[in-house]
Amino acid sequence: MNSNLLVRIDDKQYGPISTSELKGLVKSGNFSLADEIWLEDEGEWVEAEKIEEIKRLFMPTAVPETEKKIIAMGSGKGGVGKTVLAASMGIGLAALGKEVVLVDGDFGGANLHTCMGILSPQYTFLDYYTLQQDSLEDILLDTPINNLKLISGACGILGIANPKYSQKVRLVRELKKLDANYIIMDLGAGSALSVIDFFISVDEGIVITSPEPTAIQESFDFIKLCLLRKLQREFRNEQQVLTLLEVDGVNSLSQFTTPIEILLEKANKISSEVASRMETNIREFKPRLILNMIMDSDEIKEGASIKTAAAELLSLDIDYMGYVEYDEDVHDSVKDLRPFIIHNPKSKASRSIARLITVKLLKMASIEAFVDKRKMRKNINESAKSFPLAEDYESNTICSVKCFYWDDCEYQNGGYPCKIRRLEPLFKG
Ligand SMILES: Nc1ncnc2c1ncn2[C@@H]1O[C@H](COP(=O)(O)OP(=O)(O)O)[C@@H](O)[C@H]1O
Ligand SMILES: [Mg+2]
Repeated sequence: MNSNLLVRIDDKQYGPISTSELKGLVKSGNFSLADEIWLEDEGEWVEAEKIEEIKRLFMPTAVPETEKKIIAMGSGKGGVGKTVLAASMGIGLAALGKEVVLVDGDFGGANLHTCMGILSPQYTFLDYYTLQQDSLEDILLDTPINNLKLISGACGILGIANPKYSQKVRLVRELKKLDANYIIMDLGAGSALSVIDFFISVDEGIVITSPEPTAIQESFDFIKLCLLRKLQREFRNEQQVLTLLEVDGVNSLSQFTTPIEILLEKANKISSEVASRMETNIREFKPRLILNMIMDSDEIKEGASIKTAAAELLSLDIDYMGYVEYDEDVHDSVKDLRPFIIHNPKSKASRSIARLITVKLLKMASIEAFVDKRKMRKNINESAKSFPLAEDYESNTICSVKCFYWDDCEYQNGGYPCKIRRLEPLFKG
C-alpha cells in the first residue's frame, strides 16, 4: 500500500492522499481506527482497524534508537555507482522487512528520486531548509516499494546556506529520529566538507569505488581527508596539535603527507593524553569499502590494496565488504528509470548486492543468508509489479517523421508517445 489512498471520515470522503499524509492525520488526531479506507481490490470501504498496514500507523515509534543505523555512501570520484547502489541496497533491505529511508544527500546533483521512479518530487530538502516544512518527517515521500521512504535532495542548498559542522551533525541527529531501521544517505562525490562531515558523523560510512587507478587513488585520498577532518574536529581548540596536522584552514587538509605513525609519535611528544586521544579517534574510524563495476577477477584485488595502503599509511582498519560486477543490466535499468534490483533481481549486480546486504550489512551466516536472499527476491518480484515502467512516463507529444530530431533519434517511434520527451519533468526547474 502506498500513495493515493481514499479515506472516509465521518461520512466525508477525502483524498487521494499518501501514507505519509495519512500518518499526519493520525498524529493530529483527525483520523481514527474507526474511520475507513477505500480498498480498490475489494471495491469497498473498510475500517482502518481491519487493515494491518494502517493499524501500524497508530503504533508509537516502533524502532528504538539502538536499532537504527545511518549509513552514508561516499566516494572520491563521481559516477562510480553510489546512487544506483544506494537505491538497490535500500530496496533489498526493505524487501527483508526492514523499515528504510533513502536520503539524497548529493546537494550538487540530486538524482536519487529519479532512480526511484519519482520524476517530480512533491517535497525536497529545500522545503526543510527554507522552513516550509518543520520536520524531516514532513518531507518523507512514499515510494513504489513497501517499507521504503525517500527524502529527495535539492540542488543548490549549499548555495543558500553553507552549513556549519554543527548544523550537519544536527541534521544527522534529526535523521536518526526517523522511524526506520536503516537510513541510507547517498552523498555527493569528492572531498568537499559538505560530503566529508556527513561521512564522518554517521554510524557507518561506505566508500564506493570503481577499480580504475584514478578512482582508487581518489577514494584513498577521500578516506585520508575524512580521517584528518575527524582529528581536526577533535583537536579544534588545541593549536599545537592543529599545527602537527598542518591545518591552518580546513582547505589545507589535503596537503598532509606525514604517515600517521609519525604523527602519533609527534603527538606523544606533546603529551601521552593527546596521543591516546588521537589513537582512539583513528581506531574508531572504520570506513567500509565496496568495489563496483568489476570486469575481471584481477580487479577484485584492488579492494585489498586499498585496505593495505590504509593500514600502512593511515593506520586505519578498512572493512572491504566486497564487490559488485560490471553488469549491462545496471546500465539498462538506469535507462528504464528502474533500480537494477527491480529491473532484474537475478542479474549479477543484483546477486552481488543481495550478498552484501545479507552477509555484510545484516551479518547473517551463509545458510540464513541463502534463505533470506530467496525471500528478498520473491518480495522484490512482487514490488516490481507496482514500480512504474519506462513507458508509464508518457509524454503528450506524439512521435512523428516531421520532428526536427527524427533523423538523429534512436527511437523513431512514429505515431506513439515520444520516448525522449517523457523525461521532460526531469528538466523542469
Ligand atoms: N555495476 C555496474 N555495472 C554497470 N554499470 C554501472 C554499475 N554501477 C553503476 N553503473 C553505471 O554508472 C552510472 C553512474 O552511477 P551513479 O550511481 O549515478 O554514480 P554516482 O552516484 O557515484 O555518481 C550509472 O548510470 C550506471 O550506468
Ligand atoms: Mg550520485
